[in-house]
Amino acid sequence: LHIVHIAAEMAPVAKVGGLGDVVSGLCKALQRKGHLVEIVVPKYDCMNCELITDLKVLDVVVQSYFDGQQFNNKIWVGTVEGLPVYFIEPHHPARFFLRGQYYGEHDDFKRFSFFSRAALELVYQAGKKPDIIHCHDWQTAFVAPLYWDIYATRGFDSARICFTCHNFEYQGTAPASELASCGLDVDHLNRPDRMQDRSAHDRINTVKGAIVYSNIVTTVSPTYAQEVRSAEGGRGLNDTLKFHARKFVGILNGIDTDTWNPSSDSFIRVQYNADDLQGKAANKDAVRKHMNLSTKDASQPLVGCITRLVPQKGVHLIRHAIYKTLELGGQFVLLGSSPVPYIQREFEGIANHFQSNPHVRLLLKYDDALSHLIYAASDLFVIPSIFEPCGLTQMIAMRYGSVPIVRKTGGLNDSVFDIDDKTIPVQFRNGFTFVKPDEQALSSAMERAFKYYNQNPEIWQQLVQKVMRMDFSWDSSAAQYEELYEMSVARARASAR
Ligand code: GLC
Repeated sequence: LHIVHIAAEMAPVAKVGGLGDVVSGLCKALQRKGHLVEIVVPKYDCMNCELITDLKVLDVVVQSYFDGQQFNNKIWVGTVEGLPVYFIEPHHPARFFLRGQYYGEHDDFKRFSFFSRAALELVYQAGKKPDIIHCHDWQTAFVAPLYWDIYATRGFDSARICFTCHNFEYQGTAPASELASCGLDVDHLNRPDRMQDRSAHDRINTVKGAIVYSNIVTTVSPTYAQEVRSAEGGRGLNDTLKFHARKFVGILNGIDTDTWNPSSDSFIRVQYNADDLQGKAANKDAVRKHMNLSTKDASQPLVGCITRLVPQKGVHLIRHAIYKTLELGGQFVLLGSSPVPYIQREFEGIANHFQSNPHVRLLLKYDDALSHLIYAASDLFVIPSIFEPCGLTQMIAMRYGSVPIVRKTGGLNDSVFDIDDKTIPVQFRNGFTFVKPDEQALSSAMERAFKYYNQNPEIWQQLVQKVMRMDFSWDSSAAQYEELYEMSVARARASAR
């Protein structure tokens, strides 16, 4: 198949969160399966161009429509981890992608509707005839209605559209009139069965539009796909999802096992694998020294937490985990920052409070290299999310032999199975889980984890080896996407005949 992904992020060159990892991980896996995969992303000024090989400007200019005019787009092409990627640089006075950040601008809706239109225009003008156009999250959700309402009517209709929602909390809504900028027909789309947002009648909802207009709609885990069918989880889209249930499925993400590989990871101090865990202890020692934590007791458990500090992640429970770890005699390292000022300030306060405590360190920043080291150094990893569409850190932690403590929600529920859960076959049990989003439930999961850790080093080592050997690669998830693509393409061919 010829598959074009259109996305706002792509790791490692333009990454804010899990979306970036998923786009590159899935695309690499599809490419390994023999498909022709291409990716289109904006050319952000803040992206990491050093990680792109053979980056060059094409000598064609792609014109795209916006606000009643045609604008020129410079098209860059390069290779990222073996994948061909097109970068769109609009020549527009609003300098859409020259803002020094990926998101958080007052005109994000405009910026990404421009991008969605320009990306489709690039595919169209280049004469490509992809079988699948796969877009991700609200930023590229415009692609689905644009494709079927505008491009398909020009005979550019070979493709099936797949839309993946990575988080239903972010739906990209705006006053209906704003939809006209990228050429969409507002009167046609501003209806309750199309893009009109029920919760606010003068607004339209781009994720809703993508659900209605795409041939395939996915989200990033089976449990989350269930959760969003409820009023609370679906954030107003539960009925739309129920109505379109036949094309909606949850597929658990994988992780990029080349990037996240303790036996070849160049960011960690000593490499190791499940058969030889000595290196893991060396990384723990290195991290503790580097962070000025006490190294007196080599067997003192180290609890890691790497996260964006947003309400979704269970911020009050993360705070509780710090105190509980101290109470249980462990050490705690947190790496992560918050886009929410009051949360950032609160954690700065906690960081200061513990400044001279030899058992707690809070690093309130984003640091990719350091994250690898913390995965490698930690014994336990805590993820108390209130909701979690998929979550990648639990899988990465396990790959590095750090045993997860998670709340049973979304993708966490599909990848972490409690050591004590007799309803789960023993070979799948790989961590500690709790259900209620409160301190007590988290405490008791942490107590069980510490008890397990402290009882017998040999049994603990067996658990570490077991979680390291679990398969969280993209292979099986990519196979599920492949099957959806192929079914959709076959259906289209059958109905064309
Ligand atoms: C979003 C979700 C996260 C998921 C990621 C990749 O960031 O919040 O749960 O793992 O997308 O799909």
